[in-house]
Amino acid sequence: MSLAEKVNITTGTGWRMGACVGNTGQAGGFPALCLQDGPMGVRFADAVTVFPAGVTVAGTWDRELMQRRGKALGREMRAKGVNVMLGPSVVGGKFPAGGRGWEGFGSDPYLAGQAVGRTVRGVQGEGVVACVKHFLANEQETFRQAAEGRAQGWPLIEALSANVGGRALREIYAWPFQDAVREGVGSVMCSYNQINNSYGCQNSYLLNGVLKEEFEFQGFVVSDWIAQRSGVASVLAGLDMSMPGDGDSFSDGAPFLGSSLTRAVLNGSVPLERLDDMALRIVATWYQMGQDTNYTAPNFSSWFRTPQGPRYFGTDDEGKKELEGRNQYADVREEHHELVREIAAEGMVLLKNGDATLPFGTGKDARKAIVVFGSGAAGNPMGMNSCGDRGCNIGTLGQGWGSGSVDYSTFSSPLSAISSRAESDRTMLEYVQSDDDYNLILPMASKTPNSTCMVFVSSDSGEGYLSVEGHKGDRNDLKLWHNGDKLVRSVASACKDTIVIIHSVGAVDMEAWIEHPNVTAVLLAHLPGQEAGSSLVDVLWGDVNPSGRLPYTIAKSLEDYGPAAQVLYTPNHRIPQQDFTDGVYTDYRHFDAYNITPRFEFGFGLGYTTFNISDVTVETLVESPGEFPAERTDSANTTTRITLNSTLPDPQDLVFPQGLRRIQKYIYPWLSSASVGSGPYPYPASYSTTPRPRAKVSQSTLYEPLLRVTARIRNTGSVAGKSVAQLYISFPANAATAETFPPRVLRGFEKVAVGVNGTEVATFDLTRRDLSYWDENENSWRLPVDKDARWGGYTLRVAESSRGAGAETVVEWVDV
Ligand code: NOJ
Repeated sequence: MSLAEKVNITTGTGWRMGACVGNTGQAGGFPALCLQDGPMGVRFADAVTVFPAGVTVAGTWDRELMQRRGKALGREMRAKGVNVMLGPSVVGGKFPAGGRGWEGFGSDPYLAGQAVGRTVRGVQGEGVVACVKHFLANEQETFRQAAEGRAQGWPLIEALSANVGGRALREIYAWPFQDAVREGVGSVMCSYNQINNSYGCQNSYLLNGVLKEEFEFQGFVVSDWIAQRSGVASVLAGLDMSMPGDGDSFSDGAPFLGSSLTRAVLNGSVPLERLDDMALRIVATWYQMGQDTNYTAPNFSSWFRTPQGPRYFGTDDEGKKELEGRNQYADVREEHHELVREIAAEGMVLLKNGDATLPFGTGKDARKAIVVFGSGAAGNPMGMNSCGDRGCNIGTLGQGWGSGSVDYSTFSSPLSAISSRAESDRTMLEYVQSDDDYNLILPMASKTPNSTCMVFVSSDSGEGYLSVEGHKGDRNDLKLWHNGDKLVRSVASACKDTIVIIHSVGAVDMEAWIEHPNVTAVLLAHLPGQEAGSSLVDVLWGDVNPSGRLPYTIAKSLEDYGPAAQVLYTPNHRIPQQDFTDGVYTDYRHFDAYNITPRFEFGFGLGYTTFNISDVTVETLVESPGEFPAERTDSANTTTRITLNSTLPDPQDLVFPQGLRRIQKYIYPWLSSASVGSGPYPYPASYSTTPRPRAKVSQSTLYEPLLRVTARIRNTGSVAGKSVAQLYISFPANAATAETFPPRVLRGFEKVAVGVNGTEVATFDLTRRDLSYWDENENSWRLPVDKDARWGGYTLRVAESSRGAGAETVVEWVDV
């Protein structure tokens, strides 16, 4: 490739200068790449499936479903011509009120890592590059970008800095990314925010260091949209692709890369070797996924739905008149609605079921009358896609808002699904749509003494560029929206059998009504995607025995999560500083360490049967594994590097070609003049072109299983069901280290189907990383040993939840 071609594939063509939310330039035979959101389906497209959100999938605790969803996502992306899917997301570990937690997989790094890994496997198995995001610690929306904060009236100089120590970084925030890399993820998106006061997309420690050197990531790093804050510095720090290609702001046409990168290479600010590395990472990933054969170009437009529309949608000049035929209306949904329904039902968490209220009977046991309350029971009356990027909470909440959202092609509303199901038993069904007209609500709730009342309530959140009902991305609190507490209490005060259905982005505060004796059942349906109604009916009528478990803790109050778990809503500095002072004590680790009783603990969920867990055994797979992982022995550092053309071309050859029409705001690799400047670039004092010594940690050794654990799961109820056996480990109390350990951490789970009176065995492998902690002094994972260098003493507990019934064993001490 020529220099211009290499630059062209590292840089987006500018905002809305192509079919997708991100489009790279073309380079000879190497095609322009389409990068498209998002984590729950193809954004801005017709005839696609709206899958359940990440948090819903996490609630299934089912690896196979996670992978099947990834595969289905990959198939739809591919059929629409998407090269890089902008997902899965890793968020939601820290702040219950954080706006984009629902895109991610709950608050535990082990669970999220499994979900991310399986999603990547599914997506990439179809030949689509997955892009795991946002690296790193993009945990809140407020102040994620300085410009967004300034637009809200805050005098910010820079974006928020998430300040996180080395141990929490490895054990909590980067953990799921490490799993994605282990699965061979092709790309990683760096985040808007700063981490330890260095922007995500120019943080050399994180990109060059943790990601590429320590995790051995060989794909490319792409900036979040306009997250890049510098040119040369970002490139030297490890950024490989700039999106959407503009510089400081959308559509400014003034790139940090593009022509600026061309100039930086020509004048010696960026070594040519680094540009080669960027291009190689992108091209190699494309080959790795097999996109060189039989790959469709984008057959949809993110910007128009007519058959034809502007090829250069983002320009204001004559170029806008040039039309292209983009939309082919390819229906790529296959039978994915069935998978959506299955996942949404499996991810539903039954939180309360007094007197076995659920499931509903049929025939002569059917409910006589059902009265449904709440605007959330029916679809959005203005139309299912009437709010762009789902930037409203009207009607049933199937997704959060922002770039993670998808346009519906069909929507199964709870009300319609319930009414068709109820009809077959001639159950009477009435509906009160209003959330606050108590002249209607109260008489209806007390109308028929034996009716069942169903109350639909919700809580929404999303991305920071949209504000919905006063929530600027992050939620303002964990309260139900639309006065949901009052609605539940009012209905329950009159109706003895009140069932609450919650559609929510995450934890909600239920204290106002959860113990009300007339609240007989509570189902947390999270964000089910397009099959909200069908999946709910499956669980209500018992076709599916609920087996969802909470992928986070539900507290009695937001304060209970701790001071470090609160979104920073008001800047504490003109560069807002958010210190992650809780270290590795996030979510349930915090509740356990401080003895705080949650409302529902991490991992909790009921079903229509009961289980008994017993006979936990442990087998040693590796004798004397050694305290530290083996240092890297691979020869990556010494193997011959691919040498590309190392001579710099004449700048004159890079000047904008004569006769080529220049589209205003389009990003080109060409220079406006041959004068590229010269002289030493002011590199930071520690900058060196000598490769640094390899990181100590060997990735393959980290993933080697050291212990194998088994447990017996018996179904003690009267219907078949699925148990989620969860393995929690407690580190030994007498480890010879100053570090402290959370009372327990999740390190395994298995979803096991068990028939009536049946018993199954669940097996868990514990890897070296699972059993180690990150030692900041040694800069390495380390097995905890006692003062005599003996290793063991872990308590291994297999249980129904982080605090639930189970059985345990203790690992014997042996020489490490
Ligand atoms: C910004 C979001 O943070 C990111 O997740 C998304 O992929 C890009 N916009 C592109 O839409």
